[in-house]
Amino acid sequence: MYKILIVDDDSQVRFSLGMILRRAGHVVMEASNGNEAIDIFSNERPCVVLLDLMMPGIDGIETLKELQKIDSLVPVIMITGYGDVSTAVDAIKHGAYDFTLKPTDINRLLITIHKAIEKQDLERQNQKLLIQQSKLATLGEMIGSIAHQWKQPLSSINLIIQDLEDAYANGEMNKEYLDDSVKSILEQTRYMSETIGDFRQFFKPDKEKKSFDILKSIREVYSLIERQLRSLNIAFSIHCRCDKKTECDALINLKPCEHNYMAIKGYPNEFKQVVLNIVNNARDAIVDRRTEGKIGKNEIGCSVAIGCQAIKGNIKIQVEKQAGSIRVAVNDNGGGIPESVIDKIFEPYITTKQGDKGTGIGLYMSKVIIKNMGGRLFAHNIGNGAMFTIEFFSDIAELS
Ligand SMILES: Nc1ncnc2c1ncn2[C@@H]1O[C@H](COP(=O)(O)OP(=O)(O)OP(=O)(O)O)[C@@H](O)[C@H]1O
Ligand SMILES: [Mg+2]
Repeated sequence: MYKILIVDDDSQVRFSLGMILRRAGHVVMEASNGNEAIDIFSNERPCVVLLDLMMPGIDGIETLKELQKIDSLVPVIMITGYGDVSTAVDAIKHGAYDFTLKPTDINRLLITIHKAIEKQDLERQNQKLLIQQSKLATLGEMIGSIAHQWKQPLSSINLIIQDLEDAYANGEMNKEYLDDSVKSILEQTRYMSETIGDFRQFFKPDKEKKSFDILKSIREVYSLIERQLRSLNIAFSIHCRCDKKTECDALINLKPCEHNYMAIKGYPNEFKQVVLNIVNNARDAIVDRRTEGKIGKNEIGCSVAIGCQAIKGNIKIQVEKQAGSIRVAVNDNGGGIPESVIDKIFEPYITTKQGDKGTGIGLYMSKVIIKNMGGRLFAHNIGNGAMFTIEFFSDIAELS
């Protein structure tokens, strides 16, 4: 038994198709136009949609595009007349599963519905596996960055303890000395436990869409990887330009954007994972470029022999708000995306990283997440690096 949504402005078609499908044991919902279909689709989440191609108001293809923004895995079967086959083919290019000609061959339609649902189940399982895999990979990355975040406070604590011993041996120890040392140690351990708190927060998946400030999320990602980037000599900056056309560069100092909020409606933790994926890729590209010596002597005067650590890596994030859209552009100087993979980087399992360094699903997952939030993610090479752009059109929200 499946939940099936029939969308057709012809009540006769809805009635007869509905009756047959109900008789076959399915739960049938009906919509007489595109807008109604979008509403029912959002609230009821059917397993499959039968969608008339020619309807007054928003037509079949436009409705299809809207449904896909909500959930691109639900199969949509177009219902069409003989004269509209080329438009139906067009619908398939836009992601429809198949089309059926009027008058409908019911047996064929039932088989198509069955196959479409089987395919959807497989795709959902596959996506779950990929999400799981991607989370594990990110988990590994995050443990690495916690190790970085902890290195500094651990060595400070180490020094303070050694100093306590020396102070005691030299007779300098008194109540004030002890209090100062204890205070410093507590500060360091507080910082360490905050890092763990941020980390746990990061992995809680968001259940529902909510309004959140993009800039705040980017800064939270930065605070998790700050030390790691610094130890790799990679500069990181965030610039924001809101609809008032003023730019504030002070964002890295954890100041909120003074002019406006860069708020959207979506999944903040998932968004942070996307930013982390993109920034980690930029970091890898910069480190790779150094070891391969591509930045080389001729450009910045680095020789591979001295490790090229002296070369300043650069990751710059620009957030820009325009009427009706928000863009987040991440730019690096890691040498750019290799030409051999540039057209495929958003497909699963495409990686140029050696051994177990990359699984090739970071960008695939990022694209799925951004699409689920009604946005798009794309990339191109500029100058001596890559630029990844996230663009949100809908669901721009106001924060209270
Ligand atoms: N900033 C960048 N500069 C250059 N190449 C990049 C950049 N970002 C991505 N790429 C290329 O795109 C490929 C795919 O990236 P993706 O994040 O999907 O997988 P990965 O980083 O290889 O592995 P992982 O699944 O661990 O993230 C990379 O292997 C790399 O070749
Ligand atoms: Mg990656």
